[in-house]
Amino acid sequence: MTPLLEVTDLRKHFPLHGGVLGRVTGQVHAVDGVSFAIARGETLSLVGESGCGKSTVGRAILRLTKPTAGEVRLDGERLDTLPDAQLRRLRRRMQVVFQDPFSSLSPRMKVREILAEPIRNFGLARGAALEARLAALLDQVRLPRDALDRFPHEFSGGQRQRIGIARALAPEPDLIVCDEAVSALDVSVKAQIVNLLAELQDALGLALLFISHDLAIVEHLTHRVAVMYLGKLVEVADRRSLFAAPFHPYTRALLSAVPVPDPTAKRERIILSGDVPSPIHPPPGCRFHTRCPFVFDRCRTEEPAMRQVAPGHQAACHLPMGM
Ligand SMILES: Nc1ncnc2c1ncn2[C@@H]1O[C@H](COP(=O)(O)OP(=O)(O)OP(=O)(O)O)[C@@H](O)[C@H]1O
Ligand code: SF4
Ligand SMILES: [Mg+2]
Repeated sequence: MTPLLEVTDLRKHFPLHGGVLGRVTGQVHAVDGVSFAIARGETLSLVGESGCGKSTVGRAILRLTKPTAGEVRLDGERLDTLPDAQLRRLRRRMQVVFQDPFSSLSPRMKVREILAEPIRNFGLARGAALEARLAALLDQVRLPRDALDRFPHEFSGGQRQRIGIARALAPEPDLIVCDEAVSALDVSVKAQIVNLLAELQDALGLALLFISHDLAIVEHLTHRVAVMYLGKLVEVADRRSLFAAPFHPYTRALLSAVPVPDPTAKRERIILSGDVPSPIHPPPGCRFHTRCPFVFDRCRTEEPAMRQVAPGHQAACHLPMGM
């Protein structure tokens, strides 16, 4: 079956300008050959440290930035090369929820306008049907009906994010990209919004690309996890397999920082030494070799390819199985 979203060898390099003439002096390798697919109704979480390229992947999929190379397909149709005039049709099917609903919701528009705009723009409903749709959206995100006549600043952070989610749901998309959608929220509110997203995903059969720097919050929401390091994916696995038996040393380090709910179960904390290298000059061989506690000679020269390490579980690392 064709996946809903298919990303193949996606690359995005940003030119670096320097000197008085502003000549191109280098490239930021923000995304450097990323491939994955998302099935209809599936949640894939994209995780990794700040600056590894997660948002750039999301933006390239949504065509908010043009990829340098690679392919993005929605239902088999190439998005990355589609002329702008034809993009509109596919735009309805892919929506986004950003980290900061305050800056992404227009402060001068009432919630009614914020939610009605995409519905009208795509010609989906008007009159009584539009009113019914607005009421249904508020119910879906558990906001009271009178929210329609209020402005975004009259709501709390968690409620504003509910408005952001309702706006993303408004044009009845197949895929929602959530870029750090809960990262700015307080712990208890974070859990509520994660639960809401999981419920909506399930009830509406939505596909989610859930971008987060925090592995802990994706565990209760995701079907699969893709771990990104310095512009590349290092591990992709089913949730259960990834959390129970992470293969890549980078994933193991990320996971070791996640608190374990059971106090008797101990997880040894792996502290990574060194900083994340610059994406302007990524290290040769394995990009993680400058920080990896298991590094050996081969890692410094030969780039590890993605390979299957367990059913539904792939990793890019030279370590032999069982280590
Ligand atoms: N418009 C741009 N011009 C130049 N460099 C950029 C641009 N956008 C992103 N970058 C660089 O690309 C790299 C990846 O950035 P990106 O925002 O995708 O990371 P991220 O994983 O989303 O990080 P965070 O967790 O902090 O949101 C970073 O080094 C960033 O500085
Ligand atoms: S390939 Fe080598 S350096 Fe890279 S993660 Fe595996 S062991 Fe570490
Ligand atoms: Mg980001």
